[in-house]
Amino acid sequence: MARITLRQLLDHAAERGYAVPAFNINNMEQGLAIMDAASACDAPVIIQASRGARSYANDIMLSRMMDALVEIYPDIPLCIHQDHGNNEATCLTAIRHGFTSVMMDGSLMADGKTPASYDYNVEITATVAEMAHAVGASVEGELGVLGSLESGHGEAEDGHGAAGALTQEQMLTDPDQAVDFVLQTRVDALAIACGTSHGAYKFSRKPDGDILAMHVIEAIHERLPNTHLVMHGSSSVPQELQDIINANGGEMPQTFGVPVEEIVRGIRHGVRKVNIDTDCRMAMAGQFRKVATASPAEFDPRKFLKPAMDAMRDLCRARFEAFGTAGNAGRIKVIPMDEMAKRHAGGLLDPQMSAARAA
Ligand code: G3H
Ligand code: 13P
Ligand code: ZN
Repeated sequence: MARITLRQLLDHAAERGYAVPAFNINNMEQGLAIMDAASACDAPVIIQASRGARSYANDIMLSRMMDALVEIYPDIPLCIHQDHGNNEATCLTAIRHGFTSVMMDGSLMADGKTPASYDYNVEITATVAEMAHAVGASVEGELGVLGSLESGHGEAEDGHGAAGALTQEQMLTDPDQAVDFVLQTRVDALAIACGTSHGAYKFSRKPDGDILAMHVIEAIHERLPNTHLVMHGSSSVPQELQDIINANGGEMPQTFGVPVEEIVRGIRHGVRKVNIDTDCRMAMAGQFRKVATASPAEFDPRKFLKPAMDAMRDLCRARFEAFGTAGNAGRIKVIPMDEMAKRHAGGLLDPQMSAARAA
């Protein structure tokens, strides 16, 4: 098979009513775990790398690893996506290294911390979309700032997130502004803010509608029925993974993530890409701790990494199945990037514009 653009993949997902989890990676073991899960259930894949992942693993290493994954798993369409690009250079160098899709996160300034103005966000996102579309790559934009409605703060533990207090208005995407944003920027997918945040510590109780505002997604989907919506901060932080970590010397305070059933509800209202990093980290870290606790004399890294890969593979497969991604890889015939570039140039990929006008 081949590398697929985000736009083609999410168009397929929208046609068939499913969503694709976007898993973050930093190394070979995570790449293999995701592809192994996908291949076991015939799911198309989005693998995403943050700026931190790119500097950790090195662009050349990452890009050659993606070549290898495409070769090892020829039946699985693979979208390679830049997570939270902070400026034009981050996005363009990603494309130069073979990424088929980029997120230009203009909800924050280039420092990745300071909430940006609406005008700044529109301008930088539209600029990146124009450049990316010229070579057939896809673009995700973000409107609204990720942050906890419980605490009024962003989560900066993963190196990207708003610093300081946020208002309710900043943390909930405005549906009318979303229509204007999509029209002006021509993004292929729109990340929205609805009370989720990055990391493990999202909610201090199982979230209800006061702290996880799924109604915002429904309102945006009503106004933009043809726009692919993206949920960030969508790890479910499963209790069993917290328990494995804590039973093996970990000290994670009790916490709650985004329940899978809420994500499935979002999928019924236009959510097509679901970002998951923390759950994979927890699945792996739990196994590292378990091996270290059970076999204190062990020092072969593979003895730690193999069970960690297996745990991540099982988690990824469960998400492919819950989101309806499973069974769809074989149904997709990949469109090459240069053909996608022609379609963008010919205005053939702007259905959200007519949808917005109709709204
Ligand atoms: O965007 C958030 C992801 O969890 C990536 O985290 O920047 O530590 O790789 P990272
Ligand atoms: P989690 O921290 O909930 O896994 O979110 C990851 C994410 O949104 C990456 O962009
Ligand atoms: Zn994110």
